[in-house]
Amino acid sequence: MLYPSGLLDLKDISENQINILFQLSKKIKETHSTFRKAEHALKRETSRYHGLTAALLFFEPSTRTRFSFETACARIGLHPLVLSGVEGTSLSKGESFEDTILNIQAMNPEIFIIRCGDHSALRGMAEKMKKPVINAGWGLQGHPTQALLDAFCWQEQIGDLRGRRLLIIGDIKHSRVAASHGELSKILGYEVAFCGPSEFMPESDHFHKFKSLEEGITWAHSIMVLRVQLERHAQKISLDSYKTHYQIGKKWLQKMPETMCIFHPGPVNYGIELDQAVSGDPRSQFMNQVEHGVWLRQALLQKILEGVK
Ligand code: CP
Repeated sequence: MLYPSGLLDLKDISENQINILFQLSKKIKETHSTFRKAEHALKRETSRYHGLTAALLFFEPSTRTRFSFETACARIGLHPLVLSGVEGTSLSKGESFEDTILNIQAMNPEIFIIRCGDHSALRGMAEKMKKPVINAGWGLQGHPTQALLDAFCWQEQIGDLRGRRLLIIGDIKHSRVAASHGELSKILGYEVAFCGPSEFMPESDHFHKFKSLEEGITWAHSIMVLRVQLERHAQKISLDSYKTHYQIGKKWLQKMPETMCIFHPGPVNYGIELDQAVSGDPRSQFMNQVEHGVWLRQALLQKILEGVK
């Protein structure tokens, strides 16, 4: 259930709840299109949550997700309190994940937004907590708000996603974003297929796998390129071979239709999965994804907080 317990997994949310979330995100987007409208909306929203706090606990590194949630909190008047990494916190003195959260819970934030590794028992912890918890990226298990913001951004570009085909290229095996799109595609009715070398493919056979980029791009309506997560590879891989067969660069830009969106959840390693030329292509949605992420997260916070009041 999404509200009021938070959002740990896309299995927790229904198609109807996602549609309501996207409608509110769109309304927020439109409100922010003019300064005067935004000013009125901000005054209204910030007074509602004035004096309340959100605990953003980022046990692993982040730029986009952390700033996006901080911005979303600030825009609704919820004060974000941020723990970022181990250094400078009592985690560096050996305090546990669980004890850190329990101590911060005693300070009574309205909501928790947590990024952590696979070894952290996020679900077990969330079930014991008094306030809602949002998963802001949990190991390899999932990154639900990233998939939601991608889908919202894509829908804003092309309309209804049902029957649309998204090719996810690269290091699928180590991607929580790919895992969450696997879940979200089943709810919203878009198709997902994977493309990359066999050592980057998940074991599951639930999704079609293309070995060749040519075949995959011919099949797809839009593509999502993923970072090669070198830090998660147990064995050394050949980046030269990867770049030769799977890097998206000028050659592929020339072959792709004008209507094809190119997504990347970030951070991008230019020169590995993408050539720098892609960032300037009008089909690239990278900054658009980030922008839509704030609206989507603002809507999600509002919906969850409405549920607990
Ligand atoms: N997309 C994403 O999760 O980026 P960050 O790791 O910078 O938050």
